[in-house]
Amino acid sequence: MTYTSQLHDFSDKRAAYEQLAAQLQGLLHGETDAIANAANTAALIFDALPEVSWAGFYFLRAGLRGDELIVGPFQGKPACVRIALGHGVCGTAAARRETLIVPDVNAFPGHIACDTASQSEVVVPLMAAGRLVGVLDLDSARLARFDELDARGLERLAAIFVQASRIV
Ligand code: SME
Repeated sequence: MTYTSQLHDFSDKRAAYEQLAAQLQGLLHGETDAIANAANTAALIFDALPEVSWAGFYFLRAGLRGDELIVGPFQGKPACVRIALGHGVCGTAAARRETLIVPDVNAFPGHIACDTASQSEVVVPLMAAGRLVGVLDLDSARLARFDELDARGLERLAAIFVQASRIV
């Protein structure tokens, strides 16, 4: 497999996410291992998207006190490992099973600051056959970095990852 960084022109976000979706389909084609696919998905997103300081996965796992999110493959600085459902941006998006765009993380009650430089965040729940399996999380050092077009584009990428992968 040879990967070449492509210059995506994010002045047209729709087109950029279209290209990225096609690139991700190609990257994951023929591979079902969830860890491998999550690693390559995080790397592709981090490489392609401007002004992103962290991009990666948290997966839902059974913990001592019920289900919790545990960090998976990511790009960026080391991150918090375990997040309870309903806590932080990730846990809230997971509990509500809806994408959350947070323009200013400091104004989000209960935000978990893994990296103090992070100013804005978007979290997309990963759903497989109607079941929550984790989240895709992106951070930025710029306030209001993520908008609805990012949310829709990232939901598409998350769906491609889920469809390609055997998630246990
Ligand atoms: N800020 C997140 C925690 C994960 S890190 O950003 C990688 C949250 O509040 O859930």
